[in-house]
Amino acid sequence: MKVLCFGSLNIDYTYRVPHFVQKGETLAAEEMNVFCGGKGFNQAVAFARAGAETYHAGAIGKDGLFLLDSLKNAGVHTELVAVLEDQKTGCAIIQNDHSGDNCIMLYGGTNRTITREMADRVLEKFGQDDVLVLQNEINEIPYIMEKAHERGMKIVLNPSPMDGAIAAFPLETVDYFFLNQVEACQLLGSENREEPEKQLNALRKRFPAAAIVLTLGEKGSLYADRAQKHFQPAFRVKAVDTTAAGDTFTGFLMGGLLAGRTVPEAMELAAKASAIAVTRPGASPSIPTLEEVLNWKGQD
Ligand code: RIB
Repeated sequence: MKVLCFGSLNIDYTYRVPHFVQKGETLAAEEMNVFCGGKGFNQAVAFARAGAETYHAGAIGKDGLFLLDSLKNAGVHTELVAVLEDQKTGCAIIQNDHSGDNCIMLYGGTNRTITREMADRVLEKFGQDDVLVLQNEINEIPYIMEKAHERGMKIVLNPSPMDGAIAAFPLETVDYFFLNQVEACQLLGSENREEPEKQLNALRKRFPAAAIVLTLGEKGSLYADRAQKHFQPAFRVKAVDTTAAGDTFTGFLMGGLLAGRTVPEAMELAAKASAIAVTRPGASPSIPTLEEVLNWKGQD
């Protein structure tokens, strides 16, 4: 069983700021770092660190070659990543405040150059026992979902960042949704955020064949499928940078399930992994190894 993460590869320019910059304001950042990132990249690293045989497909420009080295170091297969001449790798401008919160501006760059031919070439290497992991930072996602479904792959969708196009995706092909409460509202077309349990039930009703993972930030996360429901509280830590915490959670929860862990076991593993991630700066550098997660006893 192989995991194919078909998704974004970003250069993250991360600025530590006393507060998020306001309209008309010029603000001096206290620190600036360049990290490997992109929801696709981060999730591929998290899957690999959780122990899954992971392949990444996507596109970068020559300016993003260091992302490939970092993926390889994390144990991700990179031969399906296209390197395009004279094109800019996707990037993110991230403001990170003192409470660890962030706000992110994205430039798609090469992440928006995926062609159907490329998707066909990638997908022909995967089949029935394999898992496709998608976020919403590349183009041609509906086509990739349809073709992967035809091949019998299991589909994991983290519809983030949410936009109006997602409603038109072939969502009935999804086996696992990973989403937060705001994304759940948008997916359900509801204006008011309801109680998490109600949202979970509504999502289950709307997508009866899929398992739903609803993340609740500091409160924890909820899982539901045909057979079971489970709540996992979040572990309390002092947050330094929450970037990629959700990506870490997705990779470790799915990675845990694929390795044969039960839902409660995989959720606990994922909650620990994302708790560790928020105590460290940066996107992918903050993602722990499986060994670190298994040995973690909470923050001192
Ligand atoms: O989920 C975090 C990621 O979102 C960052 O690494 C950034 O690149 C954006 O895609």
